[in-house]
Amino acid sequence: MAFFLAATGSAVGLGSIWKFPYITGENGGGAFVLVYLLCVAFVGVPVMMAEVLMGRRARQNPVTAVGTLAQEAGATTRWTLMGLMGIATSYVILTYYVGITGWAFAYIFRAGSGTFVGASPEKISGDFGALLGNWKVLLAWSSLMLLLTGATVMGGVQKGIERAVTILMPGLLVILLLLVGYCMAEGAFMEGVRFVFAPDFSKLTASGVLVALGHAFFTLSLASGVMVAYGAYVPAETSIFKTAVAVVTADTVVSLLSGLAIFPLVFQYGLEPGAGPSLIFQTLPIAFGAMPYGTFFGTLFFVMLFVAAFGSAISLLEPTVATLVEQFKLTRTRAVVYAVGAAWLISIPSVLSFNLWSGVHPAAGIPGFEEKTIFDLIDYVTANVLLPISGLLIAIFCAWVMKSEATRDELGMGDGLVYRSWRFLMRYVVPLSIIAVFLNMIGVLTF
Ligand code: TRP
Repeated sequence: MAFFLAATGSAVGLGSIWKFPYITGENGGGAFVLVYLLCVAFVGVPVMMAEVLMGRRARQNPVTAVGTLAQEAGATTRWTLMGLMGIATSYVILTYYVGITGWAFAYIFRAGSGTFVGASPEKISGDFGALLGNWKVLLAWSSLMLLLTGATVMGGVQKGIERAVTILMPGLLVILLLLVGYCMAEGAFMEGVRFVFAPDFSKLTASGVLVALGHAFFTLSLASGVMVAYGAYVPAETSIFKTAVAVVTADTVVSLLSGLAIFPLVFQYGLEPGAGPSLIFQTLPIAFGAMPYGTFFGTLFFVMLFVAAFGSAISLLEPTVATLVEQFKLTRTRAVVYAVGAAWLISIPSVLSFNLWSGVHPAAGIPGFEEKTIFDLIDYVTANVLLPISGLLIAIFCAWVMKSEATRDELGMGDGLVYRSWRFLMRYVVPLSIIAVFLNMIGVLTF
């Protein structure tokens, strides 16, 4: 149960509520969602099981855990680089993640002061645009979020925060259900449902498939060491398979509900499904402004979104801090100061991507990347390149390097169908599909 709560607290965050709807909108809906669900089931679940089993078998932090397991298997300890790469990726994700957490935080006050009541979609979009346009305010919010995350990790109180996150999670679910109910009664509900669930494969691109794969890793907090770290605390008799399925299900339910709350509003008000990162901030306030007790529910929603995001932000920073402490023998305070200081510097270009530097497109030479800002590129490369590469390495490590006795022993389900399916997925399906998706994307880029 403790693992389930901690893992769910890390997994459910901006990825489910903010990112899933906007990338679904950008990539044409149903077909993208189908590919995403396939990736979650056939890549996400087995990779999560692999990470937990690694953590539980080694009972160490993610970096040394990989080294110990490599030694056990008689392989080179250079595999620890895999652990370091995952941690570095989650650290870079943190630098823009705190920015979006800041948007959610700012919206608690907007909702609370009743600014949405009766506001037109144009006013709501305009207000959000004004927030994005003001780099000083954005930087202030993201800096505050980074400081809060750092203070929590420094104080070592993340266990307490994680508990708070998981207590609030059911509340988040209730508000999402309420929003979906509102859309059923008032919005273009069926159009939204069709957009999310009816696959139109003519809209699916190679890049869309890569984004779906990358998002499966992102939304489940995989390929970054977090699940290995949490796995170290899983009792020997717990079923890793059942727990992983439970975490993945919880995360997926939140994502799908979020899509069903947002797209009916998009179609009812003639908004642009591919609006990008601003999507939820331009749609949900319309519903809060029109529904009864909308100020109350809206405030509560953004509080919970903020809390869920904050819980994930902690899990993005903690592995870096733990590694600095262990590898460089720093004190925890020092490690946090360095990590947060550098993250703050790295976060600045992301913040400026929405205003002063919105015209800066560093990868304009690559087809399909012409319009991408620095923020878009950091998001794209971390989620869709680095996480899948780490995932590929994890699959190779667990299914080709580690001995099958070791993994079978640790998963503890004997040589049954579940174990054999897991091993087959990890040996062939996961690595080959990741490679195929990459090759497909490279092919599209170069021909
Ligand atoms: N899964 C979180 C979300 O969807 C984000 C997150 C937390 C994450 N820890 C991670 C993503 C580690 C990648 C790696 O909001």
